[in-house]
Amino acid sequence: MSATIAVLPGDYIGPEIMQAGLAVLKAAAAATNFDYQLKAYPFGGAAIDATGEPLPATTLKGAQAADAILLAAIGGPKWDHATQRPEAGLLAIRKALGLFANIRPTQVLPALVPRSPLKDNIVSGTDFVIVRELTSGIYFGEPRELAADHAIDTMVYQASEIERILRAGFELAQTRRNHVTVVDKANVLATSKLWRQIAAQVASDYPTVTVDYEYVDAAAMKIIQQPTHFDVIITENLFGDILSDEAATITGSLGTIPSESRGISGPSLYEPIHGSAPDIAGTGKADPLSMINSVILMLRNSFQAQATADKIAHAVAATLAAGIMTPDLGGTATTESMTSAIIEQIKTKEAMS
Ligand code: NAD
Ligand code: IPM
Ligand code: MN
Repeated sequence: MSATIAVLPGDYIGPEIMQAGLAVLKAAAAATNFDYQLKAYPFGGAAIDATGEPLPATTLKGAQAADAILLAAIGGPKWDHATQRPEAGLLAIRKALGLFANIRPTQVLPALVPRSPLKDNIVSGTDFVIVRELTSGIYFGEPRELAADHAIDTMVYQASEIERILRAGFELAQTRRNHVTVVDKANVLATSKLWRQIAAQVASDYPTVTVDYEYVDAAAMKIIQQPTHFDVIITENLFGDILSDEAATITGSLGTIPSESRGISGPSLYEPIHGSAPDIAGTGKADPLSMINSVILMLRNSFQAQATADKIAHAVAATLAAGIMTPDLGGTATTESMTSAIIEQIKTKEAMS
């Protein structure tokens, strides 16, 4: 049976990088006999324009029925003042599919060390993962209110929600370097105090894992000062959102970082961590690597298609090593020429093997 992949291209650079990711998938699948079928659905601003809603029922149904979901990016100025916002669709699909664990890797490839805004000796060897809680906290808490003279957002966490994300992070650490950093604001926030209490209990089930606790402000500093200190960072929804853009930037560009959002069961959703980059849409400057790396993650984690994933990963590394990259990394390639170069690498390797 072939794998069914739900495809949600979204807005602005979304369709541009999705096209790149799918072209690379096609080439690698052909080279390794990976069998799949795509089903595309409107989502985000494009879906608001087509149906009035950012997450139409058919899109949600299609996503639920798929084996994995690929999403590019949604949102942008066109809908910033609309009654319905594309971002509401993103939060709704995460919630509806129960995708509570968002895995955001921060890895600095050797070819990109000189592209980092940090000094080589600080950034070299950086390899950590942010495990971001994705379906609770201040993004979803009630009450939520916006009036002329006041506004309310509420950060709520159930103990069960904290425990399951901590366990996801500890399990991941066991497959890596056995080091967890719990990031919170336990000197101020009640939710963070509860995180620390539960983290201490969960940690006792993972005796091989070393745990440290950092306040989020200090963690933001340390990510820049000593990024190699980290292995797995576990944190709540909003802190994870902010720290992951910061962490992405030290790898050279936000435009290369993928993510997986997973639940207890059902399909995972794979997406770049960045947004729809309206400032560069239509210019050919969008870095396709975040989407291509999301395809690699999907192949590995949802389909155990290691050979297909390796094929793409090697082609990406070879392309970067040849100095071919988009302007966000200091290169002159376009979205299309970068994608063609990667496909060329896949085909050359195929001819040689
Ligand atoms: P953004 O992440 O879209 O862009 C931030 C900066 O990074 C911009 O300068 C952009 O050009 C650059 N950038 C991002 N991706 C890039 C890529 N692949 N290649 C080269 N450069 C890239 O953040 P923003 O501008 O604050 O948000 C734009 C819209 O995207 C907003 O509507 C926001 O809500 C939405 N957004 C969506 C998602 C998502 O779909 N998951 C994530 C974040 C933001
Ligand atoms: C992300 C984005 C989203 C978030 C927005 C667009 C709702 O920034 O995926 O990181 O805050 O989760
Ligand atoms: Mn974000």
